[in-house]
Amino acid sequence: MKTTEPSISKKPTALITGASSGIGYALAKRFAQEGYDLVIIARNEAALTALATECQTHTVSVLIIAKDLTQPAAVQEIYQSLEEKQITIDVLVNNAGMGVWGAFSETAIEEETQLVELQIMAVMRLTKVFLPSMIKRQTGKILNVGSVYSYTPVPYQSVYSASKAFLLFFSDAIRNELKEYGITVTVLCPGITTQTNFRTSLATKKEKSFLTMPAEQVAQIAYQGLLRKKAIVIPGLVNKLYVNLMRFLPRAILASGVHWIVSVFRGFKVPKKG
Ligand SMILES: NC(=O)c1ccc[n+]([C@@H]2O[C@H](COP(=O)([O-])OP(=O)(O)OC[C@H]3O[C@@H](n4cnc5c(N)ncnc54)[C@H](OP(=O)(O)O)[C@@H]3O)[C@@H](O)[C@H]2O)c1
Repeated sequence: MKTTEPSISKKPTALITGASSGIGYALAKRFAQEGYDLVIIARNEAALTALATECQTHTVSVLIIAKDLTQPAAVQEIYQSLEEKQITIDVLVNNAGMGVWGAFSETAIEEETQLVELQIMAVMRLTKVFLPSMIKRQTGKILNVGSVYSYTPVPYQSVYSASKAFLLFFSDAIRNELKEYGITVTVLCPGITTQTNFRTSLATKKEKSFLTMPAEQVAQIAYQGLLRKKAIVIPGLVNKLYVNLMRFLPRAILASGVHWIVSVFRGFKVPKKG
């Protein structure tokens, strides 16, 4: 854990998980441009250090925390270290994510457990530890990074899509609990986003098309939505159309439709019985 400048500062502070690449990296740069001090978290310390150097041009303080958020003790350790440094979090960005692709009957439970630790448990833990101070100060912003898959059960990404649906429901619920304290909860639901390692691992052949959007543009739209206190931010017309279509279809039809699309475009097949 290292700081690139003294932590005593009057600027608001944004904590961003998964800041070492992709959407988190772009969001961190955006917040730095807007004059926020940063707490950036991910496992890849070298990438976080490179980001901190980039952000220095905006004369903000950046605290790097290299941590694996799938470890149950990680959040408490982060919280304690921030308490010791008297750093107050004004904006919490739960962005860190990972994918698990394949038929559920074939994927490794260890990977799915990690995904749940990262995209559900760590989000709950981080929200739990930073809310009391936000409530006390009667101000705060939370940005949870979901996906257009928050609205769809997705065969061959079953646990991933279910975790994104959790984020949406969880955020919708606590937003209403927190209204009276002046705390906003925004869910970002991107579609296919380029300039990310997530897409590299999925090996999307076509990086640039009308279906995709670069991480920097997604981050810009997310930042504006957060400032406008929007409940849901869906970047791009295609993604908005997709989500609205999903809203009107019964879930059973949705899942079988997405199953067909995924099977055709991704080549996944359910193993034959017998
Ligand atoms: N790319 C897309 O098409 C897309 C679409 C919809 C939603 N999203 C969502 O957007 C968010 C950001 O993903 P991205 O697309 O920007 O992909 P990415 O480039 O792979 O970024 C994922 C970030 O999460 C961090 N991370 C992963 N495992 C971690 C762990 N165990 N502990 C701490 N940090 C961890 C990674 O850092 P380290 O590896 O250094 O730990 C990295 O900084 C995710 O929640 C993803 O589900 C992405």
